[in-house]
Amino acid sequence: MTRNRTILSLGAYALALAVTTVTMPPAHAQATGDPQKAVDAAYAKFKSLKEGKNADYIPALAKVDPNLFGIALVTADGKVYTAGDIKTEVSIQSISKVFTMAQVIQEQGLDSIEKRIGVDATGARFNSIIAVEAVKTVVGTGAPEMNPLVNPGAISATSMVKGATADEVWKKIIGFHNDAAGRQLNVLQDVYKSESDTNQRNQAIGALMLAYGYIKANWQQAVDLYTRQCSIGVNAKDLATMAATLAFGGTNPVTHKQAMDPAKVPGVLAVMATAGLYDDSGKWLYHTGLPAKSGVGGGIIAVSPGKFGIAVVSPPLDDAGNSVRAQRAIADISNALGGNPYAAAKKAGS
Ligand code: DON
Repeated sequence: MTRNRTILSLGAYALALAVTTVTMPPAHAQATGDPQKAVDAAYAKFKSLKEGKNADYIPALAKVDPNLFGIALVTADGKVYTAGDIKTEVSIQSISKVFTMAQVIQEQGLDSIEKRIGVDATGARFNSIIAVEAVKTVVGTGAPEMNPLVNPGAISATSMVKGATADEVWKKIIGFHNDAAGRQLNVLQDVYKSESDTNQRNQAIGALMLAYGYIKANWQQAVDLYTRQCSIGVNAKDLATMAATLAFGGTNPVTHKQAMDPAKVPGVLAVMATAGLYDDSGKWLYHTGLPAKSGVGGGIIAVSPGKFGIAVVSPPLDDAGNSVRAQRAIADISNALGGNPYAAAKKAGS
């Protein structure tokens, strides 16, 4: 028994070592505390990395310069640390799902999303129809097993934003994004048109969500507004500021505007941690501990609660649909700054 235990713990130790070698040491092991140094180091390290490929199922995304690479990090005092191209805008894509979910939670409470959509990982791709069928609890007949960061849940969340007209709903959605970013954002019309021309799959999902009661009426409007929110143009600095708004209890640390009730932010971060990087959410959380969200436009935001918000824009994606350079750069920077909320500092004197 003791021998077996020893073998088992040696095995676990070897596995831990292997994991550490291919990824990174625990976050608190090498904190330098210098954000600009960490951002510059990651930029230099990954500037020439060419892995991954632009998304091309939306034709406009295939045309974006794959060399675009920008990093931004925002701290509690509103200071913005940057490297690379932080001005060029890409479409926000799925990162918008976080802020529309947050808008619904702000407006209707944490229960609203949990009861109507669910907050569980689906284990399927972001636009899976099988996932809708697999968990097709008709609303009101049991707990839904979906989440607002996969398309069925996201389109449903968009449909939940209250407003008498599409225009009224849109003003709320874009308004929430603006508050988090600290400036007026605009829709990239070429992306909106390209995605509207090719979003038949999302239309099918919208119709199914109406059939199962997640969407109450007008699924076409929900899909259109969802497509519009995915086409909002953002740069790395906008995204980092949006992440920082979530890192600091819903208040934008640059403009000091409160976008969200602080009591509701942890629910948003929990869903990001569960499903922010789709099929790879578990791996990401295992190695960084950071609630995060990716978009097929090439952006990723990540949140170190109380410490910083960070974003990287780099369009080439891996097989799971997440920006390759963004994942690597954020993991390195967070590691250098002790960003992993699960990596508690050693007790003083121990
Ligand atoms: O629904 C879509 O296809 C896109 N507008 C958003 C997808 C997306 O960003 C998924 N992300 N990783």
